Amino acid sequence: MRIPLIVGNWKMNLTGAEVKTLLTELKSVLDNSASVDIGVCPSFPFLSLASDILVGTNIKLGAQNMSWEVSGAFTGEVSPVQLRDAGCSFVILGHSERRHIFNESNDCINKKVKRALEESLNVILCVGETLKERENGSTEQVVKTQLEGGLKDVNVEDVDNITIAYEPVWAIGTGKTATPAMAQEVHAFIRNWLGSAYGRSAADEMRIQYGGSMKPENCEALLQQSDIDGGLIGGASLHAGKFSQIISTASGINEE
Ligand code: PGA
Repeated sequence: MRIPLIVGNWKMNLTGAEVKTLLTELKSVLDNSASVDIGVCPSFPFLSLASDILVGTNIKLGAQNMSWEVSGAFTGEVSPVQLRDAGCSFVILGHSERRHIFNESNDCINKKVKRALEESLNVILCVGETLKERENGSTEQVVKTQLEGGLKDVNVEDVDNITIAYEPVWAIGTGKTATPAMAQEVHAFIRNWLGSAYGRSAADEMRIQYGGSMKPENCEALLQQSDIDGGLIGGASLHAGKFSQIISTASGINEE
């Protein structure tokens, strides 16, 4: 059975003091017995701070990006070794904001995926189409190309350290959500692709999160879909109350 994974992607938000407040609130509202895996991804400067606050909780710490290099003369970059040292156990790679604003290619994302796995960081690999791509009927082709590119030369032994996040670009931060049926259709396509690349049993064990304006009001119908195994949450993860409501909804569905 796939345990749902709910991750807060805080993006470039919050000061140190705000990180402290949000995590303290989260710790007080979260039920440690929830049958859900939980993660949060603060900005780089606050990873160590967050790691200290999270000691003794079941909330995992992740980063929003990383370099494919391990160390050296790469001004402005952050290495996977540094992320682990700061307390991270996972990293988000290939987020659409990295792809579309910072021009990260599938090749670049693939180098990062392989390096993260080599350095023992779990990966959330994001894929998803733009509005134009959805409208011209190329959603599946775009997602397939992103999966093929991002997972190139990644072996079946490594895929249990990878989660895929399907995030339609047109639904991120826009308040527009894919309908549960639309999301499920792409999730099923992704699982089939994973099955053809890694075999049915590996594909059945991999988690595929949905991301894009997920919030307490719409999460239940999404999380009930058979191939949606959690959420990658931006805006709503900046509010302890909203984030914890999504977690308890996921936990309730998982226990049904
Ligand atoms: P959103 O962001 O929930 O604010 O749409 C999701 C994401 O970009 O991961």
